[in-house]
Amino acid sequence: MKVTLLFASLLGMSVQALADDAAKAKLMEIGKTNYVTCSACHGPEGKGVVMGPTMKMGPSFDGSKIATGDPAIFALVLLNGIQKEGAEYIGPMAAMGATMDDEKLAGVMTYVRNSFGNSAGVVTADDAKKYREQWKGISGPVTRAKLTELAAKK
Ligand code: HEC
Repeated sequence: MKVTLLFASLLGMSVQALADDAAKAKLMEIGKTNYVTCSACHGPEGKGVVMGPTMKMGPSFDGSKIATGDPAIFALVLLNGIQKEGAEYIGPMAAMGATMDDEKLAGVMTYVRNSFGNSAGVVTADDAKKYREQWKGISGPVTRAKLTELAAKK
């Protein structure tokens, strides 16, 4: 009896692990397709696009705290964009929430969090939906200071 139970729970675990792997693979695939939108500024390799000696289009994702940290903060960046304050980059990080549904948002986040030298957790479409709900009170681009403040609250 005990052995049967043990076997059943082991089997159950591996079925769950397989399902998780499949879900992650699907999100990575969706993310890779939709990352095309990001690569114009962040580069196909996620290293950030630099035009000429000084003109930067976007930052690198390699080791990015926002990309690999609390996914709620990453989601806020995508949903609302970042308020442009300095002259380091040519354009702003624009709001992209309206152009992506929950699954695409989840895919692109999962892809960035698990590519370019990063290895962070998966973001599901349910998570993305939750983040939309969480941040719906914030309108317009968010300042870097606000992002730091929100990240510190967690
Ligand atoms: C038109 C150019 C452009 C596009 C397209 C773009 N970004 Fe950005 N992104 C930027 C710029 C510029 C910044 C830095 C903004 C600032 O600091 O003012 C930025 C910052 C970020 C950051 C914060 C990085 C950090 O560590 O500080 C993340 C995360 C991010 N972008 C994700 C994405 C994702 C994912 C996509 C595609 C869905 C995307 N961006 C599309 C220009 C772009």
